[in-house]
Amino acid sequence: MGFDQYHEPPEELSAETRTFARLCASLTEEAEAIGWYEQRLAVETDEDAKAIMRDAQGEEFKHFAMDLEFLLRRSPRWRQIAAGVLFQGGDIVEHGEAAEAGSGDDDGGAVAVTAGDGSLGIGSLRGAER
Ligand SMILES: [Fe+2]
Repeated sequence: MGFDQYHEPPEELSAETRTFARLCASLTEEAEAIGWYEQRLAVETDEDAKAIMRDAQGEEFKHFAMDLEFLLRRSPRWRQIAAGVLFQGGDIVEHGEAAEAGSGDDDGGAVAVTAGDGSLGIGSLRGAER
């Protein structure tokens, strides 16, 4: 991967923005891996090999979900829009348009500004309960 996840000079970016960019890159990589396993599974005929690939794809689902949850915790607007789209029945595009229209756009970017104590007020990644 190298440093190509940055599109601005890294030294001009905050640590929080660099972390956010790293996790965005990781999210992309996990999605690519999910797609690659899907293609391999579609053509593989050896059942033992398929079982291994299914297990590996499950790992990538987990990695993708963890990356996404991290990013959504750091980006309240993204989280709000995602909440309006994910796990909903019905028309995906309609949900997306409604969720975007209902979100604010005045936070100046995706990465939330932390409070003085460094807390996002959203909760830790570890042991969080829903
Ligand atoms: Fe992965």
